[in-house]
Amino acid sequence: MEFITDIISKEVSEAFERAGYDPALGKVTVSNRPDLCEYQCNGAMAGAKRYHTAPIKIAEAVAAVLKDNPMFEEAAAIAPGFLNLTLSGAFLASYAENMASDGHHGIRLPKPETIIIDYGGPNVAKPLHVGHLRSAVIGESIKRILAFEGHHVIGDIHLGDWGLQMGLIIEELRDRKPELVYFDESYTGAYPSEPPFTLADLEEIYPAASARSKTDEAFAARAHEATGKIQRREPAYLALWQHIMAVSVPDLKKNYRKLNVYFDLWKGESDAMPYIPDMVQDFKDKGLAYLSDGALVIDVAEEGDSKELPPCIILKSDGASLYQTTDLATIVEREKLYHPDRMIYLTDKRQEMHFTQVFRVARKAGLVPDDTDLTFIGFGTMNGKDGKPFKTREGGVMRLEYLLSEINKAVYDRMMENRSVDQAEAAEISDIIGLAALKYGDLSNQASKDYVFDVERFSSFEGNTGPYILYTIVRIKSILRKYEESGKAVSGAFPVPESASAKKLLLELVRFPELYDSVQAEYAPHRLCAYIYDLANEFNHFYHETKILGETDEQLQAGYIRLISYTRELLESCIDMLGFSAPEKM
Ligand code: ARG
Repeated sequence: MEFITDIISKEVSEAFERAGYDPALGKVTVSNRPDLCEYQCNGAMAGAKRYHTAPIKIAEAVAAVLKDNPMFEEAAAIAPGFLNLTLSGAFLASYAENMASDGHHGIRLPKPETIIIDYGGPNVAKPLHVGHLRSAVIGESIKRILAFEGHHVIGDIHLGDWGLQMGLIIEELRDRKPELVYFDESYTGAYPSEPPFTLADLEEIYPAASARSKTDEAFAARAHEATGKIQRREPAYLALWQHIMAVSVPDLKKNYRKLNVYFDLWKGESDAMPYIPDMVQDFKDKGLAYLSDGALVIDVAEEGDSKELPPCIILKSDGASLYQTTDLATIVEREKLYHPDRMIYLTDKRQEMHFTQVFRVARKAGLVPDDTDLTFIGFGTMNGKDGKPFKTREGGVMRLEYLLSEINKAVYDRMMENRSVDQAEAAEISDIIGLAALKYGDLSNQASKDYVFDVERFSSFEGNTGPYILYTIVRIKSILRKYEESGKAVSGAFPVPESASAKKLLLELVRFPELYDSVQAEYAPHRLCAYIYDLANEFNHFYHETKILGETDEQLQAGYIRLISYTRELLESCIDMLGFSAPEKM
């Protein structure tokens, strides 16, 4: 569907032409003074010099042409030469009608691409903490935003499953249970299928081992060695690694499910391993990689860099691969298996340099075709009210589960204050609302910025919050339910708005296709949040000014119902793109 500003621009351009001026001057934008008009065109100002004519004269000539155009209720020339446009209600209603019936809210559909989005990135056997929360929340939203316009989007969790934490766990286990067959070097049989530890054991073993490695050098060295043995796939070590994975991954799945985050691929760094040897050989064959202090490196600095970019280390002097090596090999793997048009990565913005290095090596070595887009989206830190990275009351790293329960409890308390539902219901609904509070609180900020996690504010039912958006949807659902209970069906056409508040609601609705376009182009869920906040406000304003269920003119009422029912539909599509949903009541 064409954007509404393009349709209006076309009409105004034609008017410029008929008045004897360049049609290119007829570009229309949403008014930056909504108190004066709805859309505006500043073309007369731009054309004044060229035509040696006062801008107001040009604007007046164009306004005269537009005078009887049914698209406009008013086209006014305003000193010194603005063209202020007020749309006709009938035009707005017909645009909304088309949006509602095209199946994707009037957005422009691009040529479908295959897009891999790498988000999540938890490290197996380490607790999932808030650092990984933003990645999951923002990544899931971007994934849904891109899928909305028809792309084939593949979300990959890219587990940190091949690091030192594995060696630490194994060595700690050896000291605690030396009798296990994995530690018997003379053992040649098959290893047990039952893991020698539980999730609770692991949750205790890893922090203990990690702390110990900081003071016990010999232990740290053993852990490094054990990690190397996993990487060289020694059977006993590989068997233990598999047990760690089998115990941890279901728990991770459970946690992500609670966040309403779903990955298509549960791959990890370990999956990239088989691609490393050939890739490294290729770097050497192409003359890109060279030895520097025993390490194999590739230069990535380019002319015009504002910051000095050190060479990318591919292999350490002991031959071990690094984080960047696995990321490069993962690109090789993804290219081979999925041949994506884009790869998008989400991590804390402190990893920016890492990705700059990785992308440059990938380009230099031709790991992907030149037109494959590689994008890094770095996000800021989630801080506590003191402006410092979020910690528990006890000062430890905040765990995700704890955070979720905090916010769900705040929502529950508020529902109990309002007494809108009974205890059991509140308990059930508070999870849904809590998730919206958490996600909206995060997504409504520009991703690259740090933000303050404020449970009180995020869980409020008023203001720019997730619960407020849900409350608005629930309110519409309740009106629709009552309307249907009275035996009527939602079937009317969009009404030609009679009141100012109905018109403003329609004006907000028809902005969506263009707004969505900038959201997808900029990977900017925060703009979608700002939009639904405006939309919810316009709805609530309309609701307070209008008798909907009490309206006796049935046709008028049917029109209102259609208007709010579509508002609900659009709001629900948007929150689905943000990764949360609305309850039936609250
Ligand atoms: N596991 C990493 C971390 O916790 C994040 C992984 C992000 N994805 C990637 N392809 N490097 O920092």
